[in-house]
This record gives sequence, structure tokens and C-alpha cells, in this order.
Amino acid sequence: MNARRCLVIAHRGASTYAPENTFAAFDLALNMGVLHIELDVQQSCDGHLVVIHDDKVNRTTNGDGEVAALTLGELQSLDAGAWFNAKFAGERIPTFKALLDRYRGRAHLHVEIKGKTARLSERTVDMIRQHGWAKDVTMTSFQFDKIEALRAYAPELPSGWLLRDIDDTVIPRAHALGLTQLCPKAETVTPALVARLREAGFDVRAWGVANEELMRRMVNAGVDGMTVNFPDKLTALLRESPINIQ
Ligand code: G3P
Ligand code: CA
Repeated sequence: MNARRCLVIAHRGASTYAPENTFAAFDLALNMGVLHIELDVQQSCDGHLVVIHDDKVNRTTNGDGEVAALTLGELQSLDAGAWFNAKFAGERIPTFKALLDRYRGRAHLHVEIKGKTARLSERTVDMIRQHGWAKDVTMTSFQFDKIEALRAYAPELPSGWLLRDIDDTVIPRAHALGLTQLCPKAETVTPALVARLREAGFDVRAWGVANEELMRRMVNAGVDGMTVNFPDKLTALLRESPINIQ
């Protein structure tokens, strides 16, 4: 029988301790010994792929406006760290290209396609392929049309569908697309759901692990991994268990 494993995925980096989706947060995760990083990709108005979660820059920078309405120069002039803590002042919104260059060979990336930009899935895949990263990525999205685009354009890349609810249509649609991973919201995860999804052939990777109690529930429910803002705490919990950390 195979030993159980659990992926520890730093959600937007180690984002409890450093500003999300910045090199500070990703570096910190790697320094904690974490091998998996989750990040969000969007596109600037002049066609550059950037790493930022919200459609607008307002929450996580000192700027104002839609990511898709700003140029790369405008986006990178913003401070993406001081909002979190003054000691992170000067952090910038990373380009996806710079991130691929910086972490080459050091991490597995869980890349979430965000926003409403047309062909963003394909453009993100192009950059992954150009950088020779195809063996070390898992593609994800909440948006089914973006997942469909990923499967059509890059069937060689593992993809996970982020889900807020799992209804009876999910498993057949996921099978039809050849998905290998389903990503339920942590609050909806039970041991029975994990068993059902696994029996249907999927890895089960949770998201939205808001606190340590929910993190423990995910481990006890038997998930294959989770994104978490405090990956050090998940690592410590797993070290006390027979589960292999990945
Ligand atoms: O693990 C995926 C997770 O990032 C989904 O939620 O809102 O943080 O992008 P969100
Ligand atoms: Ca995300």
C-alpha cells in the first residue's frame, strides 16, 4: 500500500507572514522548506503577465485601478509590500516571467488563471513552455472556460479545477476534460467527499484553509494537499504524523 502524502502549497507564498504574491512571500516559503507555491496570473493592458490576486490593485498596493487597465510600467511603479508591513516597502508586483526565472528548479508552481482576459490560459502556458517549466506546474482556475482552454491547449499539463461547491455535474465534466485534480473549498470537505472524489480518480487538493482548525480537519479528512497561508504550521503538523510531506 502506498504511504499517504500531502502537498504543502504556500498560498500566494507564505502570505500570513509576508505580502501575498510578492517575491518576499515566495522566498519565505522556500526558506521554510516548502516545495509548492501557489500564485495568481493576470494580464496588464499592454499584454504582460503579472502575479496578483485581485482584479484591482487597490487592496494589495498603494495604487488604484483595474490590473487589466494598467500598463506593466504603471503596475510595477506601485508598492506591493508597505500595505502589509512597512518592512516590506518596495516590494513590487512580479511579472510571471521574472517569477519563472527566479524559482527555476526550486519549486513546483500551482498557477491560477484569474481575470477576464481572453486567451490568458494559452498565453500563460506559452510562457511556461518557453521557460522549460512544464514538468513543474499544475494549472488551476475557478473558471470552467479557462480550464477547458487549458486542457485543449496544454493536455500535457496537470490541471485542477477550483470549486466552491461540488454538485452532481462536476465529476462527469471533470472526467470529460481529463482532469487529474479537483480542488474543493475546505469548508465543504469531509472524509466522505474525499473518498468519493478519489474513487472517481482525482487527487483532492483543498483551498480556503483559513485557520489551523480547518487545516487539521483537511489532514484528518485525507486530502492530498492544500493551499495554506501558513505552510510552516502545516509542515509541523505533518511532521508529527505518518503522512509524507510533498
Ligand atoms: O488554492 C487556490 C486558491 O488560491 C483559490 O482562492 O481566492 O485565493 O485565489 P483564491
Ligand atoms: Ca489563487
